[in-house]
Amino acid sequence: EDLELSGYQHFMLKEIHEQPDAAAMVLRGRLDERFATARLDGLGLDPRELRGFRRIKILGCGSAYYVGQLGAQLIEDLARIPADAEAASEFRYRQPIIESDTLYVAVSQSGETADTAFAVEEIKRKGGRVIGVVNVVGSTIARTVDGGIYLHAGPEISVASTKALTNMALSFALLALHLGRLHDLSHADGQRILRGLQRIPEQIREILDGSEAIAAVADDVAKAQSAFYVGRVRGFPVAREGAQKLKEISYIHAEAYQTSELKHGPLALIDPDMPTVAVIPDDELTDRNLAAAEQILARKGPLIAITHAGVDLGHLAARTILVPKNEPELDPILLTIPTQLLAYHAAVLLGHDVDKPRNLAKSVTVE
Ligand code: G6P
Repeated sequence: EDLELSGYQHFMLKEIHEQPDAAAMVLRGRLDERFATARLDGLGLDPRELRGFRRIKILGCGSAYYVGQLGAQLIEDLARIPADAEAASEFRYRQPIIESDTLYVAVSQSGETADTAFAVEEIKRKGGRVIGVVNVVGSTIARTVDGGIYLHAGPEISVASTKALTNMALSFALLALHLGRLHDLSHADGQRILRGLQRIPEQIREILDGSEAIAAVADDVAKAQSAFYVGRVRGFPVAREGAQKLKEISYIHAEAYQTSELKHGPLALIDPDMPTVAVIPDDELTDRNLAAAEQILARKGPLIAITHAGVDLGHLAARTILVPKNEPELDPILLTIPTQLLAYHAAVLLGHDVDKPRNLAKSVTVE
């Protein structure tokens, strides 16, 4: 019965609504209150080995790659280990330097994406250590890696991934917490993140309870030929994934930009027909983000702000989608949820087959 729509119009919507439960599943049994850390028994690496890694390289394709970027930021924030994400599809072809003190992380819902599986093989051939962040148990990538974190998101049918991505992000938060506590992250900060993680399932539910307001905003996006998604630092992967979703299922051209880069080029395209979805969290960059929002509005660009209640958008003529606040490091996980609903409702308004977008496959098992 897992594979049925259970009253939802599409699998994508069903899977969006499964996220509170799915999120609880990926966290279950992995939060260690006593030591303020994450318990990750499947990693297959002992603390001494983990402490020895000087760099983390995350590899994935499509949305998994964007969540990888979010994960790299979490690792840098919490563990202070240099981390970055790269498209697995490019990795093999640029003669990558495989280093013994780098921990490689392959991230994939299906565990069958050929580009990601080939990247894993290449790393292993050259003696690198690689773990997986994978949903499908026993899949090709899960079997090839040295260890890893299973997502426990349950089966995902919709081509456009939602609950698996949220669980990937949560898995990276667990990994970042685990690594952080083996390095300099204090017990108090570990507790702070742990408590934040515990709040996430309920906060996702809160966002979903307010989804009608998001559906109303989707109208603005559905009318457009093209849209910008902007965010900075922690918000940038949110923008990239948001733009990707819109492209995939609504066929509206969408481009993600760092908010800070707007003034270095794309501002030229802002006009009343070009909406911008701006990720504006309540954090140390709020003022800068608001200054960029002013620039957009000064050029009469319609603005949709995905933001927190603490941000004063006062005089700005923006459509606002409010997201509950968590810890700054974890906020991107929640800020992503409205972008799923925006893309979903835009696609429905345009009459597209949401679960089976043209030209795309759920998992690409050929190169
Ligand atoms: C395909 C799908 C994308 C997905 C990507 C990676 O291109 O259309 O939605 O993000 O593969 O899939 P994976 O199973 O490796 O996460």
